[in-house]
Order: sequence, then C-alpha cells, then structure tokens
Amino acid sequence: MTGPVILVVGARPNFMKIAPIYNELKARGVSQILLHTGQHYDENMSKVFFDDLGMPQPDIYLGIGSGSHATQTAKVMVEFEKVCKEHNPSMVIVVGDVNSTVACSMVCAKEWIPCAHVEAGLRSFDREMPEEINRLITDAIADYLLTPSPDGDENLRNEGVSEERIKRVGNVMIDSLFNNLERSKNSTIHSELNIEKGNYGVLTLHRPSNVDEKDAFTGIIGALEEIGSKIPLVFPLHPRTMSRAEQFGLTKRLESIPNIVLTAPAGYLDFIALMAESKLVLTDSGGLQEETTALGIPCLTLRENTERPITVTEGTNTIVGNDPQVIIDAAIEIIENGGKAGRIPELWDGKTAARIADIIEKTIQ
Ligand code: UD1
Repeated sequence: MTGPVILVVGARPNFMKIAPIYNELKARGVSQILLHTGQHYDENMSKVFFDDLGMPQPDIYLGIGSGSHATQTAKVMVEFEKVCKEHNPSMVIVVGDVNSTVACSMVCAKEWIPCAHVEAGLRSFDREMPEEINRLITDAIADYLLTPSPDGDENLRNEGVSEERIKRVGNVMIDSLFNNLERSKNSTIHSELNIEKGNYGVLTLHRPSNVDEKDAFTGIIGALEEIGSKIPLVFPLHPRTMSRAEQFGLTKRLESIPNIVLTAPAGYLDFIALMAESKLVLTDSGGLQEETTALGIPCLTLRENTERPITVTEGTNTIVGNDPQVIIDAAIEIIENGGKAGRIPELWDGKTAARIADIIEKTIQ
C-alpha cells in the first residue's frame, strides 16, 4: 500500500490521544496526514492543544463546526470521503468516541480503507449517551480494535468480535500525560488564578445529562455550594456548560458559589498542572477519570456509570451520580480523609504509541 496514514482529530479529547502516535510515526519516517475535522474550533478548545502538545498545524482542516448530531456526523462523512478519494490512504486512525470518530470510520468501511480504532471496547452500557452509540458503531466496523484495558477486550468478545481484530495496546492518553508532566510544572496557572497548590478541587462538567437538564444542573450547583464552603474550587467552563447556565438563568448562582474560581477552558499543560496539584477532581469527563488514576488524585465522577471501570476497580475513581447529597458526602470524605489510593493499570506505561505504531507499520507494509 502506498498512500499516507491519515490521523483523525476532531474534538478536544482527541488531541492528546493522537499527539504521541503522530510523533512516533514521524520518528519512524511513516508518511502521514494530520486531519482535523473542526468539530471543536474555538482557540481554547483546539489550537492551544496543538501548541501545548507540540503538534504541527493540521495538514487538512475540514471546518465542520457545531450542529446537531446528524448534521455534524454527515458533514464530516461528506468531506472526509473527498479526502480519502484524493489521498488514497493506506490506513486511517480514529480515536475515542466523538462524532468525528464514527463519521470517519464509516467512510473507511465503505471505501475499504483499513481503519484502526484507538480506545476501542469501552462501554458504559448506556445508550442515552451519544458517545456510546459512537463507540458501538465504530467498533462494529473498524478493522483493528486497539483497547486500553482488559474490560475492553471482554466487551468486544461479548459482542462477537473475532480475536484477530482485538489488540490490547494500553492507554495512549497516558503517554501524553507522562510526556508532558515535567513541562506542566512550569505552568503559572496557580498564581494566575490565585490558588494555593494542594488545597483546592478541580471541577469540569459538560455532559448533556448534567448540564442540559435544568434540575440536574441546579442540584449539582447546590452540592458545589456546600463543597465550596470547605475547599476552593477551580471550574474551567466548557462552552456548552456556559451557554446552558445562561439559558437556565443559573450564571449568577454559579458565580456566587463560595470560593469558586470560574475560568475559560484551560490549555493542556495548565490543566495537567491543575489536576496534579489538586486535592480532588469532580468531573463528568471520560478522560479525566483516567488521568486522575494515573496521577493518583482522587476523582468523583458525576455520572451514573462509566465506560472506564478500571479507573474504579484499580484507580482512584468513584462513581457518585448527580445526587447532591451523595456528591457532598463523597467530597467531604476525601477532603477530611484523603480518599482512595489506587494503582496504575497495566500497560498505562507511556509506551502505548510505540505499540500502536508497530501495528500500523505491519499493516501498511
Ligand atoms: C464533544 C463530544 C464529547 C466530548 C466533548 C469534549 C460528541 C458527541 N461529543 O461534546 O464526547 O467529551 O466534545 O469537549 O462528539 N462549542 C463552541 N466551541 C467549540 C466547540 C463547541 O462554542 O469549539 C459549543 C457549541 O455551541 C456546540 C456546543 O459547544 O453546540 C457543544 O459542542 P459539541 O462538539 O457538539 O459537543 P461537546 O459537548 O463539546
């Protein structure tokens, strides 16, 4: 096969998964194209990550932008198909579970282009989550399913996937974390936000189930009022969260939470610095559950389930849902008693990109 390998990124959680693969392929002299669908486009949701991760500007930018799920997915498919016809890739790499991931994997399946899904096999078993649909479809059609943990392998086997398609490579996002932890120590974010290292919580929220439902969002704010009276909270606001707070008339109440520091979405290095020096993390993100486990920081996940159960069974994560009292009790327990100690799962060793590159090189030979 002669064409380049196309690496697809679309939204914020994709960038730190692709960066180590890009660097590894570059070091091996593999011809590659970095393609950004433009699902996330704000500077602080996209460009800052390329800068922080030392990735070049994308070779191809599709400029898809926001839209309903169908619109966004369909637009990526139309544009990505044109790219595939023009560049004839020998392989396409998609990561994670965003709309860009499923859209590009569907194009590959129809065009008979070998496609690898990095972070395959994760399941929340909750089909109300748009990402669960993306994970199921992508894993049903991608050729190589590169999993981060044994539960991923197990889920795929239970869905009838044949053994040859499943390859456990570990967690590539942890490569980025370990590669950048030292550099993140130069971040000045603590003094910029005027917070004391070691004595604050970090909060992120953006799931539709938490911020698109007024009652759920209001309940969480109530819990934060209690927690904020015990420990300062840093809350980088996702654009969706900011606009829902406006729409529900909750902005003033959010700003009045005791000791809260509301800020724009942080860059990658600043955010690692924030997590690494925190006492606890409260989140509904997928990636943060894994990063806190790798950093040994207690994490409370404000969801009813997780597609990353190893962060609970082996790591520092606890699932607390969005019942305010449960969140408050769990946070106070961590503030007073330090929280769960965990261990880093097998193959979350910073060498996942090398294992992925081995598979890519073997496939495109
Ligand atoms: C997407 C992913 C989600 C991931 C999250 C990380 C899907 C289905 N969801 O959710 O899995 O955890 O990214 O952030 O792919 N917006 C901006 N600027 C941007 C991007 C979005 O202002 O750069 C606003 C738009 O109003 C948009 C809204 O945020 O409608 C939501 O963005 P969207 O990409 O649809 O989904 P996310 O909630 O970010």
